[in-house]
Amino acid sequence: MLNLNFTQFPALETHRLILREHALPDADALFALRTNETVMQYIDRERPKDLSEIKTFITSFNEGFEKGDNLAWVIALKENPAHMIGSIGYWRTDYANHRAEIGYMLHPDYWRKGIISEALIKTIAFGFENMNLHSIKANINPGNDASRQILKKHGFVKEAYFKEDYYFKGQFLDSEIYGLLNPNH
Ligand SMILES: CC(C)(COP(=O)(O)OP(=O)(O)OC[C@H]1O[C@@H](n2cnc3c(N)ncnc32)[C@H](O)[C@@H]1OP(=O)(O)O)[C@@H](O)C(=O)NCCC(=O)NCCS
Repeated sequence: MLNLNFTQFPALETHRLILREHALPDADALFALRTNETVMQYIDRERPKDLSEIKTFITSFNEGFEKGDNLAWVIALKENPAHMIGSIGYWRTDYANHRAEIGYMLHPDYWRKGIISEALIKTIAFGFENMNLHSIKANINPGNDASRQILKKHGFVKEAYFKEDYYFKGQFLDSEIYGLLNPNH
């Protein structure tokens, strides 16, 4: 069975990174990420208005984890674990079909250093081995070539293209859907 009910938040470690739970002191860094138009160029979500909105967001991530709805990690470098540089996690959990959607973002100062690749390898393994996901889904804006390339590099295959799939700021935007199956199922 799909399992997101962990007694403790599953902090993870890779060669260079700590993947840990969000905490209120991450609010400044998360606000900076989610209002950075370079980062958000292809993330068609409302930008947070202020820090209090971001703090509510962090609280809802953590409550979502407690309820078994989502699992979102802060990405930090081992040499500075308190400093959030990005995030990665599972959301839109589809219990009936043992699937969750993966999402990730990283501060541009750290792009193209293999950081999200390193985090993806660890979180994909965790998703298949510990959460027992049958498949992982990713939904990208078709303009997001960086995200498309990283997904393909990690074995995801294109499964669908939905035209005018969702409404954001007065426009219906297309989505490209990628999927990865659990190789052990
Ligand atoms: C997409 C993103 C997470 C990539 O993170 P990253 O740590 O820079 O990626 P990596 O260094 O691990 O790159 C791994 C591979 O992804 C692909 N890739 C990453 N950035 C790319 C870019 N700008 N253009 C094309 N391919 C890119 C390459 O195949 C790369 O392998 P290579 O460096 O050996 O060529 C980062 O650009 C980002 O945060 N973008 C904004 C947020 C976002 O769009 N998130 C995804 C929403 S669906």
